[in-house]
Parts: sequence; C-alpha cells; structure tokens
Amino acid sequence: MNLLLHLARKGALAGQAELSTTQLAKETGLSQQSVSRKLIALEEEGLIERHATPQGVNVRLRASGADALRKEFLALQDVFSRGSRSLKGRVVHGLGEGAYYMSLKGYVTQFRALLGFAPYPGTLNLKVDDAALQQFLLSREKIVIEGFTSEGRTFGGLDAYTVQVGRIPAALIIPHRTSHNRGVAEIIAKDYLRGKLRLKDQDVVEVKP
Ligand code: CDP
Repeated sequence: MNLLLHLARKGALAGQAELSTTQLAKETGLSQQSVSRKLIALEEEGLIERHATPQGVNVRLRASGADALRKEFLALQDVFSRGSRSLKGRVVHGLGEGAYYMSLKGYVTQFRALLGFAPYPGTLNLKVDDAALQQFLLSREKIVIEGFTSEGRTFGGLDAYTVQVGRIPAALIIPHRTSHNRGVAEIIAKDYLRGKLRLKDQDVVEVKP
C-alpha cells in the first residue's frame, strides 16, 4: 500500500489534511505504529510536512512528494495505455470449426445484444505475440458471453473485446475453456474479412481498439 498516495487521496495534495493515525491504520491495513513510523520517514525524505496535533496529525504533501506521485502516475499511465495501441497479427487458418460455433443461436443472440452485430459465421485466426495480446487486452473492457446448453450439448462461455479491423466492427474472442494454442487471437466480425480486406494466409492484420 502506497501511503503517500493514500495521503493524497485524503486531501493532503491539495492542502493540509487533518488525519488520525488510528483511522489511517484502519484504512491502510497497517498497524498504528507503522503508520507513525512511515509518516516520520516520509517527512525525513522531504516528501511531506507533518505536525502532530491532539487529535492526530496534520499532513500536507510537499512539492517533491507531489512529484514522486506524479512520476508513479505517469509510469502507470504508460503501462496501461499500451493497451490502447493496436495489435498486429498474421492470418492463419484454424480447424474449420469457427463457422459452426459462431452460427449457434446461443452465441449469436448475445453477440447481437452485447457487441451490436451478428457475426459472419466463422473466426479469423491471427497469430500474435502472446505478451502483446495480453498487453492489448489489459486495459480493455471485457464483455462476457455466457455458455449455454443446446440439444443436450454444452457450449462454453467466452470473453469478447470490441475492436476494429480495417474499420469493420469486430471482436476479439477468448473462449473460457480453450484447447487453442496460446498466441492465436480469434476475430469475429460483421463481415467476411478475407473477402472485404482481400486477406490471405500470412498477411499482417492490424487490430485496433
Ligand atoms: O477455423 P477456420 O479458420 O478454418 O475457419 P472458420 O472459423 O470456420 O471460418 C471460415 C473462414 O472464414 C476462414 O477462412 C476464416 O479465416 C474466414 N473468416 C473471415 O474472413 N472473416 C470473418 N469475420 C470470419 C471468418
């Protein structure tokens, strides 16, 4: 737990915050002694100004404290905004099962309601770098498509992330139970992408957030 961030959230960035160490301990999960020790350490590092009062402690972040927090903010922003960059992959073919699954009513109804389109029956498989895929998905909203039973068979749920491929509304889907090799992204789209974008195996495709 970052105590400096907690202090800022309690108002110590904008001005002086009147705080009780008992309360701080409760909120941060630290003992009261650790809170007091850490406050002293932050003061010694020149990050905060601290005055003990009968009720507790008055704290305000100094300029260097605010700078330290801002640095962390920028680092976090950098990590999370990488997810907004596009993902590149190479077209590969799958096992030819996508068309069957993607035309099942149990999925199509949910795709229509939650993604805003009924997909072309099939999945365009893209070979991607698995780390890049995870990074791409990190800050994106996950839409859960529930599994269902139909004619005595069970079909698993999947996570969907809305994307665009060549301006065509699409979604990257990750089956909850997958036998798929890692490093393959499955794309469903309103249109037949191979046709619309004239794609053939090994072509590079850009998936945009
Ligand atoms: O599993 P496999 O790649 O063999 O095919 P599929 O999922 O049954 O999809 C049939 C074909 O349509 C494949 O060649 C897909 O790459 C392609 N497809 C496409 O171009 N655009 C889509 N929106 C979905 C599938």
